Amino acid sequence: MTQATKPHWIPAGDDPEQGWEQGGLARQRAWVEVNEQAISTNVRSICSRIGSRSRLMAVVKADGYGHGAVTVAQAAQVGGAHSFGVATLAEGIELRRAGIESPILVLGSLSQAEELRACLRWQLMPTVSGMREALLCQNLASGSGRPMPLQLKLDTGMARLGAPWQEGPRLVAAIQALEAVELAGVYSHLASADLPSGADDGLTAQQQQRFEQVLSGLADQDLEAGCRHLANSAGMLRSRALHYDMVRVGLALYGHRPAAHLGTALSMEPAMQLHARVSLLREVGSGVGVSYGHRFRTSRPSRLAVVSIGYADGVPRQLSNQMEVLFEGQRLPQVGAITMDQLVLDATDAPGLDAGSVVTLLGRDGDQEITPSDWSDRCGTIPWEILCGFKHRLPRLSTGATH
Ligand SMILES: Cc1ncc(COP(=O)(O)O)c(C=O)c1O
Repeated sequence: MTQATKPHWIPAGDDPEQGWEQGGLARQRAWVEVNEQAISTNVRSICSRIGSRSRLMAVVKADGYGHGAVTVAQAAQVGGAHSFGVATLAEGIELRRAGIESPILVLGSLSQAEELRACLRWQLMPTVSGMREALLCQNLASGSGRPMPLQLKLDTGMARLGAPWQEGPRLVAAIQALEAVELAGVYSHLASADLPSGADDGLTAQQQQRFEQVLSGLADQDLEAGCRHLANSAGMLRSRALHYDMVRVGLALYGHRPAAHLGTALSMEPAMQLHARVSLLREVGSGVGVSYGHRFRTSRPSRLAVVSIGYADGVPRQLSNQMEVLFEGQRLPQVGAITMDQLVLDATDAPGLDAGSVVTLLGRDGDQEITPSDWSDRCGTIPWEILCGFKHRLPRLSTGATH
């Protein structure tokens, strides 16, 4: 990742005179605040849920679900995370460059010898879905003086990455016969664990059964699987029987439930808040069309507030006329089409709102809260996509530092 594509990571300061680096100017337009303590606390709750027999791999791919991978990894370490999951080589290297020494598993598929060579160099564990990549690792690691750790992924019902589960025991035996690689783990991924048990057509149970069949096949042949893992956030929250030696948790780290019925007993604190500033207020009459296409028309004399954030920052345009923001504990409706860099609020009922006021698009204000699920439910997507959608032009400010 080059410096230019990185979000601006800034310690949160309150003095606008302090300038960009200290967080003052970063709060002028629109910004994301990430509470590191919330991440550490969520990690602690997850660790106490899984108990001492299982470990936590914190999934920090996609720049820590938009929160900033390094910041999240450091906070997760403080909370007791054992290892990290990333999707790409560059994401793994970013953590190593930041001084993270814990095990890192690349969850995505690395097919090129060059990528696997970089894994060896940066001590990142690749995921292999078959012998082709395992043999590439064997060739690369031969003569390096230490075996290269890798993990085998099995497809138990997701039909994405992974070797067919029936081939598990044969592949484990074949990988273990390679002297330059070390089989550090065997894992699979759940496709529907966020659905209630009755609504997933038995898929989660079937995936678990298939995983179990592989493990008992290994035991029959005295083969070691290394670390066995299956559960994502939904699996971790759904049943202890899915925890095995490790759980790979993303969404819950950041304080969100994969589904409303899951994790109701676990305390989770959303780590991200999204704020923006009002740049202009205008008084208009009744019957005035607002923004592109006039998809909203005032029905009374109104005070309209222009807020400096738009879809180029990651606020989905599908939310036009469907979202609210918080100001002093009050909900204000957004009106008209959301544009690239601005959106408009109907602030008629909020006389205290003025140019320069800060509104909360995601997060808590008083007893009101707006969550990524509120957005995703309204625009037909999932909270994961909302969190990953915030663009790099939004500065990330870290609050509640843990280190
Ligand atoms: C292989 C794998 N494991 C774990 C996770 C974490 O999932 P979640 O964010 O639902 O916890 C992901 C995320 O997509 C994944 O791809």
